[in-house]
Amino acid sequence: METVFITGSAGFIGFYVAKALLEQGYAVVGYDNLNDYYDISLKRMRINILERYGRFVFYEADICDMDGLEKAANAYSIDYVIHLAAQAGVRYSLTCPEKYIETNIVGTFHILELCRRHQIGYLMYASSSSVYGEAEEEKLRVDLKTDAPVSLYAATKKSDEVLVHTYCKNFGINGLGMRFFTVYGPLGRPDMAYWKFADKILCDEPIEVFNYGKQYRDFTYIDDLVDGVLGLFSYFKKLKKKGAYEIYNIGSGNPVELMTFIETIEEVIGKEARKVMCEKRIGDVEKTYADITEIQRVCAFYTKTHIKEGLERFYNWYREYNRKDA
Ligand SMILES: NC(=O)c1ccc[n+]([C@@H]2O[C@H](COP(=O)([O-])OP(=O)(O)OC[C@H]3O[C@@H](n4cnc5c(N)ncnc54)[C@H](O)[C@@H]3O)[C@@H](O)[C@H]2O)c1
Repeated sequence: METVFITGSAGFIGFYVAKALLEQGYAVVGYDNLNDYYDISLKRMRINILERYGRFVFYEADICDMDGLEKAANAYSIDYVIHLAAQAGVRYSLTCPEKYIETNIVGTFHILELCRRHQIGYLMYASSSSVYGEAEEEKLRVDLKTDAPVSLYAATKKSDEVLVHTYCKNFGINGLGMRFFTVYGPLGRPDMAYWKFADKILCDEPIEVFNYGKQYRDFTYIDDLVDGVLGLFSYFKKLKKKGAYEIYNIGSGNPVELMTFIETIEEVIGKEARKVMCEKRIGDVEKTYADITEIQRVCAFYTKTHIKEGLERFYNWYREYNRKDA
């Protein structure tokens, strides 16, 4: 049985990726420090679900703690690493920059060291659409320049890409970077707009509409994203050469304007939002639009979930979740 080491396994995406791999028969070693960036009980809930699978073990530890990582790697023979732990969020990087440097740069360096020391030949890791910054071209192709990030979060994600590239070339590790585009869905992230909008609409609180609604995001439903990650994983593990380094976008390839997104949430909830129109925020880009040609070249990736359907699924789950909490 092959073993996959997944960092950030208590997180939104890590949880779904771990679950999908367990369902495919892999053993999964999960690793997450369960920090309080958002509600820890949601992270525990995800881990409880994963623990129902006999082939899942969990380490509550920090990727900045090399001894913690060594302990996990000495206890299990790891075939693949999927590194998803990170300090996420553009906004928080303005107020707490050190968290981003620690987790996203020092933490990723430790994951690379782990691969080198334990001769783990395959590392997939999460990057972000934010590395494109304010790109001149509308459709974001993986070969566009990404040297002008507009947030510290994006800068740390770009740094990860560069660090992984170096380790791949120096130590024969195969590396595959995934630039995720605004992922949403059930058991998602309370710090993201779709969740905050739902909270505020239900409490009759006004929502802030940044850049006067003239923003586009390539919203990607979690099931579609996981299909992409798994598609890339089966392609990647067949690579025989050493020191390969590749990057892919995983997005829906279908940008939605912020105002349309809000209207869709209103429709799903059945209530109009009180809106306060605001200027563009520091760190935000105007548009993300994933070019998915590259991922489609190596696996059968296509997005199936329309934004309305995805938001309905989120909202159905969210209502149940809040009911349990009450
Ligand atoms: N969700 C999105 O829209 C999106 C978009 C682009 C990129 N990404 C990237 O995808 C990855 C997963 O994101 P997510 O949405 O699941 O976020 P998340 O915050 O839900 O998950 C990240 C997990 O990493 C854990 N973690 C953070 N710091 C850690 C540390 N020092 N040691 C161990 N664990 C730590 C957290 O506890 C959390 O459970 C991240 O790398 C993120 O930057 C996400």
